[in-house]
Amino acid sequence: MACNACILAISFLALPFFIALAADQSPIQDFCVADTGSTVLLNGLTCKDPKHVVADDFSFGGLHLAANTSNALGCHVTPVTPSEMPGLNTLGISIIRIDYAPRGINPLHTHPRASELLIVLEGSLEVGFITSYPENRHIGKVLQKGDVFVFPIGLVHYQRNPGPTNAVAVAALSSQNPGVIMVANAVFGSTPNISSDILEKSFQINKNVIGYLQTKF
Ligand SMILES: *[C@@H]1O[C@H](CO)[C@@H](O)[C@H](O)[C@H]1NC(C)=O
Ligand SMILES: *[C@@H]1O[C@H](CO)[C@@H](O)[C@H](O)[C@H]1NC(C)=O
Repeated sequence: MACNACILAISFLALPFFIALAADQSPIQDFCVADTGSTVLLNGLTCKDPKHVVADDFSFGGLHLAANTSNALGCHVTPVTPSEMPGLNTLGISIIRIDYAPRGINPLHTHPRASELLIVLEGSLEVGFITSYPENRHIGKVLQKGDVFVFPIGLVHYQRNPGPTNAVAVAALSSQNPGVIMVANAVFGSTPNISSDILEKSFQINKNVIGYLQTKF
């Protein structure tokens, strides 16, 4: 179950019923455009006074622009969340553009709070996710321009551009704040680091390899 699942307990005939929703909570008003200047901490962002809301709060421009993919992975993610588009606040949805250089990868990662529905706009993409224990089944395929693929909430997944030209995808996520856990960075690049003894036994490889991997992240 998602860690932020909304658990609602209802007493009925003296029996407790539990309803679990694996998505953001439903809004209880038309909108709650984020007041990005507010320092109040709550589950989401505080609302701007509706009188001051404008059409631009519900809009974001620039997703047609290619991002710079000159990095070790050959991949760049451009997010559109309430920080970039305040009108998304409380709506339980967000969107990203992903640019891939030839052979670029969006490495193994998971979104703890969202399923991801991806469409390929340019080039082709090799994609996949791994089901949970004990099957750990790898479900993947190669997508062509126009193909859509869904990565179920919480599962580890990846994308790779196998082609000789750039690839572009856009993905909608079922949370305004999907979160991302990059597997390699979380395991080998945490601060402070995880003791190499724990990593050595977890991965059944020797300390030198662990030390090498830690220097990479
Ligand atoms: C892309 O990023 C690289 C690495 O940060 C940088 O050297 C390069 O100038 C950038 N290219 C453009 C067109 O901004
Ligand atoms: C891991 O943390 C320990 C203790 O802070 C430190 O001595 C060690 O250099 C760190 N190792 C790496 C690979 O960063």
